[in-house]
Amino acid sequence: MSNNTDPKFWNAAKNHLIRYGSPFDPAIIERAKGSFVYDADGRAILDFTSGQMSAVLGHGHARIVETVQRQVETVAHLFSSMLTRPVVDLAQRLAELAPGLEKVLLLSTGAESNEAAIRMAKLVTGKHEVVAFSKSWHGMTGVAASATYSAGRKGYGPAAVGSFAIPAPNAFRPRFKHPDGSLDWQSELDDAFELVDNQSTGNLAAFVAEPILSSGGILELPKGYLAALKKKCEERGMLLILDEAQTGIGRTGHMFAFQRDGVTPDILTLSKTIGAGLPLSAVMTTPAIEEAAHEKGFLFYTTHVSDPLPAAVGLTVLDVVRDENLVARAGQMGAQLFDGLSQLKDQYDCVGDVRGRGLLLGMEIIKPTGNREPDHDMGAAIMAEAFKRGLSMNIVKMPGMGGVFRIAPPLTISAEELDQGVSIIGDAIKAVSRV
Ligand SMILES: Cc1ncc(COP(=O)(O)O)c(C=O)c1O
Repeated sequence: MSNNTDPKFWNAAKNHLIRYGSPFDPAIIERAKGSFVYDADGRAILDFTSGQMSAVLGHGHARIVETVQRQVETVAHLFSSMLTRPVVDLAQRLAELAPGLEKVLLLSTGAESNEAAIRMAKLVTGKHEVVAFSKSWHGMTGVAASATYSAGRKGYGPAAVGSFAIPAPNAFRPRFKHPDGSLDWQSELDDAFELVDNQSTGNLAAFVAEPILSSGGILELPKGYLAALKKKCEERGMLLILDEAQTGIGRTGHMFAFQRDGVTPDILTLSKTIGAGLPLSAVMTTPAIEEAAHEKGFLFYTTHVSDPLPAAVGLTVLDVVRDENLVARAGQMGAQLFDGLSQLKDQYDCVGDVRGRGLLLGMEIIKPTGNREPDHDMGAAIMAEAFKRGLSMNIVKMPGMGGVFRIAPPLTISAEELDQGVSIIGDAIKAVSRV
């Protein structure tokens, strides 16, 4: 009998855990190292989601282990007004990486960073309306959840007053098309902002956007889109907040995804990847915005703001990313993964699209009907089959979208491990197609 079926464990889980989202995976994970997690039978499962899209250095990186041990012995947590060297050093390092955004606030989670960013935008602009994409995910807390449209809106009472959504550009299913059938994102954006303007009471404070909508099904903002979006914001006196929870710290082949577009946001939020799996997030903004917020009494005083332990981890993450050349590596490994998945697309009709950038890729599963009809059941079956064969992947299931696999392995993954993952996906598709 497999140790993963341990009835005592599962009964206790059933009796005592509040269910918070998708069903629990059918294995007990005992430990994790590098690109693998290990279940109760000691079976290695390749982690194609870097934990919750965060463990960019893989699991249990020696330098992170050393940093946590050292810092926890030195000082882990303090009164929130006390400063330490890791906090100031990390702020300085981040500022050097994002010229223009030299002011930094260190927090714990992605939702929290977006709360702080939106709160700051409201205070500075003196307005309160917030626009986001209709397939966005910015977090589960109040204001971040109000700007999250991909899931979880129903049943929780009113969202923040002045919450608006516009469609995210989708090149696989364009709503506005050029004569050649390709996505006409500029017309879509113009149309969307006309609607926003009609609904607005004249209080537009901010637009919050992911450069690649991840939970929304790996929808990449096309080249030029961010610049056009920034212009829309400037025309209306809104701030552009970019949420690089998943794309920041190298994953797309740039340190930050916005660098491909040469567009600097007014406020940048980082989370997930900056702590490489430990709870650390950051809000970055311009000195002018920080000054304006401070003058108006900006308050974001939390228990774990400027905590030295996660800050020390963040510093080590940046050191490892630099020393192991992981930004360039994400580009190279991403190209290999893209090729591998594209070959599966050529081989199997159910693979409708492969998209994304660097090591944040999407593979969309469709019905072979010729009209890009989503196939959620097939996607779920492939995911379950891959898990049995030793690969953990995540699938986005949303109305109007196909089953989209979000593939974001650690930036430290080896070429052999990537090939192994692609080959398991291929075997899983083959096995499921035969049934
Ligand atoms: C783009 C983006 N922003 C924010 C969040 C929320 O982060 P957290 O779950 O750490 O609050 C997520 C989580 O998936 C995310 O993908």
